[in-house]
Amino acid sequence: MLLGDSVQIKEINEIIKQVAPTDVTVLITGESGTGKEVVAKEIHNASKRKDKPYIIVNCGAIPEGIIESELFGHKKGSFTGAIEDRKGYFETADKGTIFLDEIGEMPLGTQVKLLRVLETGEFLPVGGSKPIKVDVRVIAATNRDLAQEVVSRNFREDLYYRLRSINIYIPPLRERKSDVKILLDYFTKIYSEKNNISFPGFTDEALNYIDNFPWQGNARELRNFSESILVLYPNKLVTLEEVQKQLRAYNLSENFNVPMIMDVPPKRNENEFLFRALLEIKSDLIDIKNELRKREIEEIKNEIKEDDFVIPKEKAMGMTLDEVEREVLNYLLKNNSWNIEKVSSILNQSQRNIYNKIKKYKLEKVYN
Ligand SMILES: Nc1ncnc2c1ncn2[C@@H]1O[C@H](COP(=O)(O)OP(=O)(O)OP(=O)(O)O)[C@@H](O)[C@H]1O
Ligand SMILES: [Mg+2]
Repeated sequence: MLLGDSVQIKEINEIIKQVAPTDVTVLITGESGTGKEVVAKEIHNASKRKDKPYIIVNCGAIPEGIIESELFGHKKGSFTGAIEDRKGYFETADKGTIFLDEIGEMPLGTQVKLLRVLETGEFLPVGGSKPIKVDVRVIAATNRDLAQEVVSRNFREDLYYRLRSINIYIPPLRERKSDVKILLDYFTKIYSEKNNISFPGFTDEALNYIDNFPWQGNARELRNFSESILVLYPNKLVTLEEVQKQLRAYNLSENFNVPMIMDVPPKRNENEFLFRALLEIKSDLIDIKNELRKREIEEIKNEIKEDDFVIPKEKAMGMTLDEVEREVLNYLLKNNSWNIEKVSSILNQSQRNIYNKIKKYKLEKVYN
């Protein structure tokens, strides 16, 4: 399970549950640090292949000249230095899963071979003449816009369509603020246990700041932040100033993917075709739902009537910022049946922040 209680993460967990038992190819997209690798691993772990190899290949980290031999293996003598036959990742991953990370970086020539494996399960090793057949489930990920890459002719259109049929998109953390708290609790808990440091937590002000921080590096940035905070400020309540200081000092750290092998049991899914069709429909529905949600919020924003909302100039001049905030919040709550989730989306604030303000301004439930 992917951690988080946002609608988006719940939907992703749902899709993982549905796709995992099948052999369909899945494309995972999202900004750097959103958890693409976590999703890939979850799919493998929830599949029938979980005790078979899980091979991670970072397509961006392998030099163009050797990527084909790395993926598909080579025959002795096929190029200088090929002193013996060598198995590629696809063969090593037989009966298991191969995770092609940074698929957008794969050279065009290699993409042709990959498409063939996806279609037929067969490939030719470099310098070989006999095709090898494997049973491998492919999961791919990228933080690039593949559609754009197709337009710029860096990515093959046919492969793009083949991969895209099941696309899991992980939205950036700043668009699912309710997950920040959950991830923060999780990361601080594991690091405090691992390092044996007691962690009393953050002040309210600090938490509020963390909730609303943009987290450009997504969950990875939040994880690194949690780790540094624990080490720098052990055994004390961490303040807003300390959080701000740490976030200014913070640098994104790279993580590298290395191939790793685990053991597992197989079985093909006969109904794969049907499943695929159903899942495509499901993934389209989710896109539509997301679009509708966005539009609903836009509509609410447009519906706000000026007279209702704009505080007369003379009045506004005499009001404090807090009073203005109270008025705006009260208006939105009343007009949205006190739906905190909706109001928090409209104001792009965390739900906790909205609850705090309700308490602060002692707002009462009144509906329009
Ligand atoms: N929902 C989540 N629950 C728990 N941990 C998460 C979650 N999302 C991300 N993480 C953690 O955040 C870090 C970054 O995730 P991951 O490596 O999967 O990102 P990515 O999308 O593959 O990024 P990149 O594009 O840079 O490779 C990892 O340490 C991962 O364990
Ligand atoms: Mg990754």
